[in-house]
Amino acid sequence: MFEKIIYFLYLNNLFKLCIYLLKVISIFNKRYHCRISFFNFFKKKRKKIKKNYLEIVYQPRIFILNFKNNRNNLIKKIYSYEYLNLKNKFSYHGHKNVYQSEHNLNKNIKFKKMSKKLEQIVNKNISKYLNFKKLSLVRMWFVITKKSGFIKKHSHLNSDFSAVYYLKVDKNKLSTNGIKIYNDYGKLKIYELNNKKNSFILRETKKKILLFKPKNNDLIIFNSYIEHSVNNYASKIANRISLPFDLSFD
Ligand SMILES: [Fe+2]
Repeated sequence: MFEKIIYFLYLNNLFKLCIYLLKVISIFNKRYHCRISFFNFFKKKRKKIKKNYLEIVYQPRIFILNFKNNRNNLIKKIYSYEYLNLKNKFSYHGHKNVYQSEHNLNKNIKFKKMSKKLEQIVNKNISKYLNFKKLSLVRMWFVITKKSGFIKKHSHLNSDFSAVYYLKVDKNKLSTNGIKIYNDYGKLKIYELNNKKNSFILRETKKKILLFKPKNNDLIIFNSYIEHSVNNYASKIANRISLPFDLSFD
């Protein structure tokens, strides 16, 4: 019953009320407290959000696929980036041993083509799960995580879906390096593409924290409200390189 009330309020943009109710109920049952951040995400948008959009994004989802691309060429472009290792506003986000490019690579002539390709791949693969609504890539950047690098827990506020394409990652299966995903939503749906069958295999989890250890060429896409962090503690490679991007519904 409580879930139905919360869902009804959510569909009607009453996020503040959802938060209030969750705060009250979490006095009696702490497990409700972690769900507050989800409604905060929508409250912060400070605009009326359409009901059918809210229906689509209520269920948190992660999509994992792998596609071959000329990684070496892209890595070369990254190392020839004109502002490489220069300080920018992202240098002060509290991450450690991490360099982030400007977030406008999708407008940069060297990376424009790649950003279009990624946008196409995302839409081709996941649009049927989003009522066939088109996602546009709105910003893209690269991240070089040095050994012992760390990206603290965060979510991406200004978009609907976020993604990361991995260009160079540690192959060590035993390490705990990777992207940590914080599941504050109860049931999380994970769709993993089986390239041979050309279809997604769905699994569901209620685990609180998931560690995804990407391989080169992996692409992970998730709701922008899902909080995540990255660590590269015991990595064998000096520079882990990824290409994150944000997507918004048109
Ligand atoms: Fe992120």
